[in-house]
Amino acid sequence: MGTRRIKFDLLIHDLKTPLAVIEAGITSLIERSEKYGPLTEKQEKVLRRALRNTKVTQTLVNDAMEIGRSSEGIIHTNRFLLSDLIEQSLVELFDLTDYRAAESVRDCVNLAALKETLYEKNIMLEVDENLWCQEVHLDEGKIRQILRNLLNNALKYRKRLIAIQIESNGQSLFFSVRDDGEGIPAEYHKKIFECYFQMDAEKNHCVRGHGLGLAGVMVLVEDMGGRLSLESDLGKGAKFLVEVPLSRPT
Ligand SMILES: Nc1ncnc2c1ncn2[C@@H]1O[C@H](COP(=O)(O)OP(=O)(O)OP(=O)(O)O)[C@@H](O)[C@H]1O
Ligand SMILES: [Mg+2]
Repeated sequence: MGTRRIKFDLLIHDLKTPLAVIEAGITSLIERSEKYGPLTEKQEKVLRRALRNTKVTQTLVNDAMEIGRSSEGIIHTNRFLLSDLIEQSLVELFDLTDYRAAESVRDCVNLAALKETLYEKNIMLEVDENLWCQEVHLDEGKIRQILRNLLNNALKYRKRLIAIQIESNGQSLFFSVRDDGEGIPAEYHKKIFECYFQMDAEKNHCVRGHGLGLAGVMVLVEDMGGRLSLESDLGKGAKFLVEVPLSRPT
């Protein structure tokens, strides 16, 4: 690993502590009024926004660390329930954009309730009950990061609808995120996976983002020995499909 890379990773790593202190401080002010004194409605609103943005920053730091680890070939597999993974990814996603939705997702007691809650947000979740309750053996951090990025894009580019589909054939896990937005013309199907590439960069200077999300997703999928593909055309929405091999039980 080059010195520059190490310096960069170290910088990213060292951002974690101050961010944790900021998060803990704001959380205390919001949650422990008996100790720190009551907040006005406006003060609480400001603090909640600060907290949300601290969390965004923490997520970015974790993502940067994960990409670094991944390119060094470090894979951490563990066993977890697919339901936990999907629910937590959705909570993370909504925490930043729509915290009421995040609360509703947290409160869902089963798959049917979650489908219903998401349906109200125009998100279709297609997964069968058996797979939902199944334990899988995968690198959870990487899968979460992949899902978060694909879902973020789908939220950003959809007209109205998003569909999340999850399947398995016992050897691999397949999941896809589809939206009904403008789509991506065939000539860009390779380019959008390159760092810093954004289709609408020239004509639209105020799009949020950096063109790094999909490049990161590609690295993570490949490092797990998986495959990422795209079905899309102009005006036809976009569907990103991920296939990752499931580790065999040891
Ligand atoms: N679902 C989608 N529908 C249409 N275009 C998309 C979709 N997802 C990605 N793109 C195009 O691919 C480009 C690259 O996506 P990528 O996720 O890498 O970057 P970004 O979303 O612009 O920024 P960020 O680094 O925050 O993720 C986007 O700028 C957009 O032009
Ligand atoms: Mg993105």
